Amino acid sequence: MHKIAVIAGDGIGNEVMPEGLRVLEAAARRFDLALGYETFDWANCDYYLKHGQMMPDDWFERLQGFDAIYFGAVGWPDKVPDHISLWGSLLQFRRRFDEYVNLRPVRLLPGVPCPLSGRRPGDIDFLVVRENSEGEYSSVGGHMYEGTEREVVVQEAVFSRYGVDRILKYAFDLARSRPKRHLTSATKSNGISISMPFWDKRLEAVAAGFPDVAWDKYHIDILAAHFVLNPQRFDVVVASNLFGDILSDLGPACTGTIGLAPSANLNPERRYPSLFEPVHGSAPDIYGRNIANPIAMIWSGAMMLDFLGDGAPNYRAAHDAIVAAIESALEGGERLTPDLGGTGSTTDLGKAIAAALENA
Ligand code: NAI
Ligand code: MG
Repeated sequence: MHKIAVIAGDGIGNEVMPEGLRVLEAAARRFDLALGYETFDWANCDYYLKHGQMMPDDWFERLQGFDAIYFGAVGWPDKVPDHISLWGSLLQFRRRFDEYVNLRPVRLLPGVPCPLSGRRPGDIDFLVVRENSEGEYSSVGGHMYEGTEREVVVQEAVFSRYGVDRILKYAFDLARSRPKRHLTSATKSNGISISMPFWDKRLEAVAAGFPDVAWDKYHIDILAAHFVLNPQRFDVVVASNLFGDILSDLGPACTGTIGLAPSANLNPERRYPSLFEPVHGSAPDIYGRNIANPIAMIWSGAMMLDFLGDGAPNYRAAHDAIVAAIESALEGGERLTPDLGGTGSTTDLGKAIAAALENA
């Protein structure tokens, strides 16, 4: 039995989560998967307004034993400032559960209008591997002479050999498992003169252990341009925390709506639960109308099954069947949400995908 902690969070997290669970249940029936769920109603801004913190003190102990966390979205800036809500929940999960890999597939799906002209499904199909535990997102720094004309702020980036090597190894391993066997690394060693040359040096050292994987590197600015101009060039793209954050929003934007983009926050050694969530946030602007696109949530559920199965054929098949059901619902076109140009609801689209999965 795989134990899954379910945390819907804020806003449309609460609307897309039921559709994610609906599809997981359909997959469990069809592929004979043993999934057990427990739902937690913290890690949301209403909890903060009642308790003055985003989560109970013993959150770590309560979640530690789960195999995975299935997470909606967190944040509601009118109630709680974002740096408090995100650092008080999602960022704690990523750090304390050592989810050092943030994996985000970028794939152009059939039936989705591509903002880049002339691209067809198959042209864009790559994975962004973002370092998720250190780098530019550190709390090392200081704020001096606050409010005066001499005000100074400093925030350091932290790159450890341990942290850089493990993300590079993960990315090379992943590239090795794919037909193209190609890895691209994001750098900026022409401008960031200490940490990025170090990143590049470790890239070469780790690459030596993967002679069967071809690799290249680009400065982040031109790499961003290539995402838009030549997305067919990429297979696995590895980047530091900040660069990876930007690339993994830009990538999905090149394939249509952010409502499609899934992500996994992985602790590959499985010492702690990994977390699966849509890339998007709580979308206060559309919350309450049942029009949020549930595909990112559903696809994240497929990634969760793939990870939980750890190679087991029925879990792998369940992942593939969910992705196929998403594609068939998109091609069918009747139940699409407004961000895809349709008039369907969150529930309509979730049900259409669950039905496609069951009737395949
Ligand atoms: P957002 O992703 O919530 O929304 C950006 C735009 O995309 C909005 O116009 C929204 O309507 C649209 N959108 C997002 N998801 C959609 C979906 N499934 N279907 C259709 N349209 C969708 O980003 P925003 O507005 O910057 O942030 C809102 C809150 O969410 C903030 O508190 C932010 O900090 C938080 N956030 C949380 C994340 C997480 O939990 N991982 C990630 C990003 C933002
Ligand atoms: Mg982001």
